[in-house]
Amino acid sequence: MQVPRGLEGVIVASTELTKIDGQAGRLVYRGYDVTELAGIVPYEAIAHLLWFGQLPTKEQLGKLQSQLASNRRLPPVVTEFLEQAARVAEPLSLLQTSISILGGLEETKAASIIDASLALTARMPTILATGYRLRSSQAPLEPRSDLGHVANYLYMLTGSVPKQEHVRALDAYFTLLADHGLGASTFVARIAASTLTDVYSAVVAAISALKGPLHGGAPIFVWEMLQAIGNRENARDWLTDHLAKGDRIMGFGHRIYRTEDPRSRVLKRLAKEIVEPRLFELASTVEAEARELLRKEHPERAIDTNVEFYSSLVLHAVGIPPELFTCTFASARSVGWTAHIIEQRADNRLFRPEAEYKGKLDLKVHESPVKTVA
Ligand code: COA
Repeated sequence: MQVPRGLEGVIVASTELTKIDGQAGRLVYRGYDVTELAGIVPYEAIAHLLWFGQLPTKEQLGKLQSQLASNRRLPPVVTEFLEQAARVAEPLSLLQTSISILGGLEETKAASIIDASLALTARMPTILATGYRLRSSQAPLEPRSDLGHVANYLYMLTGSVPKQEHVRALDAYFTLLADHGLGASTFVARIAASTLTDVYSAVVAAISALKGPLHGGAPIFVWEMLQAIGNRENARDWLTDHLAKGDRIMGFGHRIYRTEDPRSRVLKRLAKEIVEPRLFELASTVEAEARELLRKEHPERAIDTNVEFYSSLVLHAVGIPPELFTCTFASARSVGWTAHIIEQRADNRLFRPEAEYKGKLDLKVHESPVKTVA
């Protein structure tokens, strides 16, 4: 059986987690439209929805919130690693290696998949904030159990209890990014999980895929593009030159959406509420100009803003430094990755596709330049 390159349109798993309607621009988590969840229910409730199948009651939410809060601290070995490595390694590598160390500890190995998912989700913001503060010569902070998942992340990064509007915006971002079907990183997580490896190793694999600029690495490039363009008047010329060189415009286009990404719509609204007006106007001008240029260049397909375009503005406005944009995406996606790992393990079959061999056959070693093994 031959399938299209990049497995476009091929169904390789069944899921009850997320439905994406690429034509209508709709994203649904277990029956709920994501645009109705974001900023309305807290991210911890989305974790409950994805892990356990329903939105929580008040009691269930309280219980999950306190379980997450009590799992935030890092074992000393991870903090020691971060102290050694924070200044020399990039944040996503620090995150990956910290998760890898966590997964190798005896006490972690004994945990159930759901307990491991919960502990990993709880600790990712602590790893990021600790690594960032060490990198920028600031003392790391202890997590605060009286703050929610997202508020605690911002507190641990900045040292101040964040404004309510920033918590709301980042919480909505976390919800919007929590899951997205079989994006490359989630597919990788499911492939790894299908070997019966542990949750931590599957998430380390997922982060490797997320790192690439065609997936989760884009928001920093969006941010750099906006900085390079600088003001609205430059937008058209800059974008025209960029496309003429054959480069892609970051934050635009998607494998599945053939219209605007619904997450982008919500993020644009949030950005308008919290970003400095000048920056927001620059971004919306770049959006409009890029859309028009891309329509001309590709009349056959709609190339619209994806989740990464306005993410960069929202993350900047709430105080996340650009070097943590992709890491923050990873932290939000942790509940989706782990929910997919749980789902994969509940009805597992090892992923083992084949490659069509297009190389040579029937070469003779005695006719090759190598005569002896010496
Ligand atoms: N800027 C300019 N051209 C783009 C583009 C973009 N952002 N996205 C797609 N295209 C063009 C390609 O150059 C290609 O043109 P060609 O047929 O003349 O070679 C055509 O559209 C199809 O591209 P393809 O890579 O097959 O589309 P895809 O649906 O597989 O791509 C992405 C999806 C995300 C990889 C792609 O849109 C992209 O690279 N976007 C920029 C990176 C980004 O924002 N990533 C975050 C994703 S959430």
